Order: sequence, then C-alpha cells, then structure tokens
Amino acid sequence: MTIEVLTLFPDMFSGFSESSMVARAIRKKALKLRMTDIRDFSIGKNRQVDDYPYGGFAGMVMKPEPIYDAVASVLTRGSAPVIYFTPQGRKLDQNIIKTYSEHKRIILLCGHYKEIDQRIRNMVVTDEISIGDYVLSGGELAAMVFIDSVSRLQKGVLSDLESAQSDSFYEDKLGFPCWTRPDVFMGSEVPSVLRNGNHKLINQFNEDSSKQLTKARRPDLIKE
Ligand code: ADE
Repeated sequence: MTIEVLTLFPDMFSGFSESSMVARAIRKKALKLRMTDIRDFSIGKNRQVDDYPYGGFAGMVMKPEPIYDAVASVLTRGSAPVIYFTPQGRKLDQNIIKTYSEHKRIILLCGHYKEIDQRIRNMVVTDEISIGDYVLSGGELAAMVFIDSVSRLQKGVLSDLESAQSDSFYEDKLGFPCWTRPDVFMGSEVPSVLRNGNHKLINQFNEDSSKQLTKARRPDLIKE
C-alpha cells in the first residue's frame, strides 16, 4: 500500500514514520509513505500558501492553487481517493480503517490554519474524515492516527501473537483486559483462570470480560 501525504509540515512525520508499527510496516515493504510539501507548489516569490478569508472572520485559509497542483502531481503516479482531515468530516472508526486498508493507494490531504479553500473540497477531495469532536491545529495528527491504524492491518505487519482479532472494535466489542507477570503485584493477583492453562476457559473468560466491558462502557457498539 502506498500512502501519499500532502502537508505544509512534512517534518512532523519524521519520528512517527521511523518508530514502532509504521516503521515495521515500511521495513516489511507492506507500506510506502511518500511526503509532498504543499509549499513546493506555492506561487510568487514569498511562497504564499494561505490568505485572508472572504467574509472577514478570524484565521487564515489555505489557497486553492498550491493544493490543486500538489494533488495533481501526486495523481500522475496513479489514481487514488483523496482524504481530507477536518472536524466536519465523517467520524473515523475501525470499519472505515478496514475499508481503506484494502486500497493500494491513498492520498491524505492535511490542512492547516483555519481551513482550506472550499473549491478544493468540492473539486478534488473524495472523502472527509474527522478523528473526533475536538479541534486540532491541522490535519497532520489526524493523518498519523489514520496511517498508524491502517498500516497495522497490512498483511505481514502484525505477528500471529499480536493479531488484530483481540483488538478493540474487532466484531464490535472492546478488547478485554490484559495481564502479564508477576502473578502478584502489590497484593493484586492475575485472575487464576488465566494461569491454569485451560485454553477453552481462558477464551471464555476473555470473551466474557470483553462483553462486560462493552456493555458497561460502549453499549452503543452492541448490535441487536
Ligand atoms: N483537523 C482539525 N481538527 C481535526 C479533527 N478533529 N479531525 C480531523 N482533522 C482535523
């Protein structure tokens, strides 16, 4: 899978792409991450990428030309959906991640400042995604959230032991609580059923814990 990221702040992605699961996905050639600096497509000698908004409200708006040209240049390498991150978008969840994880190419557009010019959203963006009901300074952190969760679903990235099947939201349930050694920590003990080696009982226990937690915290996930 190739993810093309269009941003004014490519440096924000350096540590992120060199660490943990995303670095592993890149190393295993399950993921290719390509950065495009929108400023490289700016116009005029002062490399302007934003301007004052019509209507006179506070904040700056990203100009359409540099974004349009940046997207066009990336599209010459192959067609792909163009996802724009905005609090006005569809709320991201594991089903959306799963659908996009099956694409060969995706373009992620990160806005910054107040917004991007609406014409870009009308003309080139194919999907708008929000990572939650709060406002970030730009789409970069949202893009990293998206890339992290999509890359761990690429074939060969997670080992069998790490399998996504015990993750939260797999089959519409929250994940179950996890425990490791020591058996007793500050007087608190790991449930004995998990230590008796009976895998049928262990699976049942984890399944029940997962259901209880989902019922208590996220009843909205439970389907009739
Ligand atoms: N850009 C600013 N806030 C955002 C959010 N909550 N989700 C996605 N992109 C954003």
